Formats: sequence, structure tokens, C-alpha cells
Amino acid sequence: MIIVQGYYPLKGEIEIQGSKNAALPMMAAALLHKGTTVLDHVPMIQDVFCMMGILESLGCVLCLKDHRLTVDASEVSSMQIPRDRGRAMRSSIVVLGALLGRRGEGEAYYPGGCSIGSRPIDLHLAAFQRMGVEIREENDMIRAEAGTLKGADITLSYPSVGATENVILAAVKAEGRTVLKGAAREPEIDALCGMLKAMGAKIRGVGSDCLVIDGVEELRDASYQVPGDRIVTGTYLFAVMAAGGEAVLKKGSPESLGCVLDTMRAMGANVRVEGDTVSIAMTGRPKAVSITTSPHPGFPTDLQSVAMAVMAVGEGQGYLKETVFEGRFATAKQLHKMGAEIIIEGSEARVTGKGFLKGARVRACDLRSGAALAVAGLRAEGDTMITDCCHIFRGYEDICGDLRNLGGRIRRES
Ligand code: EPZ
Repeated sequence: MIIVQGYYPLKGEIEIQGSKNAALPMMAAALLHKGTTVLDHVPMIQDVFCMMGILESLGCVLCLKDHRLTVDASEVSSMQIPRDRGRAMRSSIVVLGALLGRRGEGEAYYPGGCSIGSRPIDLHLAAFQRMGVEIREENDMIRAEAGTLKGADITLSYPSVGATENVILAAVKAEGRTVLKGAAREPEIDALCGMLKAMGAKIRGVGSDCLVIDGVEELRDASYQVPGDRIVTGTYLFAVMAAGGEAVLKKGSPESLGCVLDTMRAMGANVRVEGDTVSIAMTGRPKAVSITTSPHPGFPTDLQSVAMAVMAVGEGQGYLKETVFEGRFATAKQLHKMGAEIIIEGSEARVTGKGFLKGARVRACDLRSGAALAVAGLRAEGDTMITDCCHIFRGYEDICGDLRNLGGRIRRES
């Protein structure tokens, strides 16, 4: 359980952890090389430990020390992703693309992860089939097999982050050229491509929605840095906006938060970016705005719940439209317990700011919803108890320590 004592302004300076959503596909990419890959700035979070377990079960030898992960993938003896770990998180599905790239075959289970929508993988499987992969589904298992993995022209009907990552992982060692149109442009894709290029992959168009990948025979040993977690940065910036005060956040990839920082400024925050450091100062209550989530470079769906919490303690009537995941308004029900005024109609939420909330016992429904409740608790009278906070530790290395270092009164109780 996490306990938050509300109504204290924040003030402090911290460094931001490595990005969960960059580290996970980068770890899968290490499978492609029959040698050693080193990743620095790896976040010490549950999902990373789960991905380590998957890679070990496939035959890799891993060592994680001081945020440095060394993966020796010289021997990959298995091609089956274990069911328990595969079901534990969404990212397990990109291991399938890496297995296809490594061995031309793989077995995975329909992935689990946050309950924020149906989260099908039809785009992933259709892309694999374009590359000559035969897909057989038995219950919740997927068996993928390709005699020879061939490059192909692929167009995604939706810029799916995971499907884009899976195509990249399968294509870097496929025979011939893959042209991927309609690719996701999230910064985590750029990090994955940067790492693969350091390993010798031939990828062009990085940062655009059209990637051209020429298959290579072999990759090489490489070391690469995981970028700072932009969603964690956004979470803590919103925390300062809810509680008031000021903060300096280092190594948090602020350059990839473009429209989020502009939204914060529109809500009344003073936000400055200098290199890899972002500073924020907030006096008064956040002003109401309208936010519509969309794929990058739009407002990220992963910050929607947190933005809702800030609107709930702001002034005026805010508006949120969620266009990425159909089930991502679970936070509202928990914020209602804290006295928030939120009306949900389909994929739209109207939030009437109240200046402050009241502490209550609430439940983290998913990773980002849990973080949003911690942010709301910073601007609540009395204590807020957050249960099921295991969701939060899947993606936040030390949300209690970070917010305490920023002056927040928050602690974890077993
Ligand atoms: C990644 O999920 C992130 N997870 C999510 O972060 C993030 O919210 C999401 O991208 C969008 O930015 C990781 O990187 C581990 P999608 P992913 O495929 O890849 C539909 C967090 O909190 N879709 O871009 O699963 C899907 O249902 C997590 O850190 C299909 O219909 O996202 C959804 O509506 C939560 N068919 C939309 O596309 C498919 O085959 C976006 O999904 C694939 C996706």
C-alpha cells in the first residue's frame, strides 16, 4: 500500500529513471545477436525483471547491476516464451518478432498487461504474415513459423507501437528489404532503432512514419543507453502542478514531451527546458484545458489519467478525450472516492476542478491510474491510501522515493 499525505507543495531536484517502454523492446532486440549486448540506464522495475526471466528461459545469460544490463544471447536454446511471464505483460509479444528474426520461429501467448482495453495483436500477426510467417493459434498460444523470413512492403492501418517494434525486430535480419509505412513515431521506436543501428542493422527513416529496413546476415556486440522515461517525467511534472511548488527533473527526455509541456503551460505552469533538464514552477490552481490523446507527437495516452487527476484539483471545467485505449477511464471511479467531479460519456470525460480533494482509500486499476492517484493524493486533505500498488511498481522504479525527494509526504507500507 502507498500512503500519501496531502496538501504540501513540492520542491526539489531528481534524476529520472530509464524508460520502461524503450528498455523492454531493446532487451528483446538483444536476442537478435549471437553475442553480447549492454544496455545502460535500465530501470529497476517489475516489467524489466519479467523480461529478463523471458530471455533467460530462452537460453540467454543476463546480468543486471547498477542499472547496467548485460545480455549474452550466444545460445538461444528455446523458442517458446513461457506462459506465465508472457501473460504478465504486453511487451512479451515483441519477443516473438525477435525470435522470428533470430530463429525463424517462435511461440508466444496472447499477452497480458494493463487492463485498459481489448488490446488485440491482429496488426502484429498480419505484418508477420506479409513476411512469409505461418501463424497457427491454439487457444491462447500463437505459433509462428517462417521457412525463410522475407522482407516485405507493410502498411499498418493504425500506428501501433508494439506492431511497429515487432516488424522492426523481425526485419533487421530478414532476407531483403522491408518498407514499413504507417509506423508509430513514439520516441521509444527511435531508441530501438538507434540501438539496432549500433548493432549493425540497416534502418532508414527513423523518426518518420516510413521505415526502410535492409536485412543483414549478422549483428555485432554493442552498448547503448536507454533514454529517460518521458512518461515518468510527465507524471512528476503534473505532480508539481497538482501540489504546487517547483522542481528540476534531469535526464527525463523532455524533448519528447512537446505538446505535453505546452498543455502544462496552458494550465498555468512555468516550464523551461535546457538540454536534458526540465524545470517547472506552479503557483495557484491549474487552469482547465481540453486534451485529446493521440499517437506521438500528440498527447500521450499514458498521461491521460494523470492529467485527469490534475484537472480534478484545478479550476474550471476540463475535458479529456481518449482515442487510443477504449478502457482507460478507470481512474475516474477512484477519484470520485476522493470527491472529484468527473462525468464520463463514452470516450469523453468532463472534469470540474475543485481546488482540492479529500484523502480516501483507493485502488490502482493499472500502472498509470495508480500514479494518477498518487498525484491526486498530493492535493488532498488528509491521507490517501492506494492499494493494489503492485501495478505502479511495474513501471515506476521508486515513485515514493522520487516524490519524497521532491518534498512530497508519501510512503510505502507493506
Ligand atoms: C505501447 O502499448 C505502450 N506499452 C503503452 O504504454 C502505450 O500506452 C501504447 O504503446 C500507446 O502509446 C509498451 O510500450 C510496453 P499500441 P501497445 O499497439 O504497443 C490497438 C504504459 O502505461 N491495436 O500502439 O500495446 C490497441 O488496441 C503502457 O506504459 C490493435 O487494434 O500500444 C490500442 O487501441 C500502457 N491491434 C491501439 O492500437 C494491434 O495489433 C494502440 O495500441 C495492436 C494495437
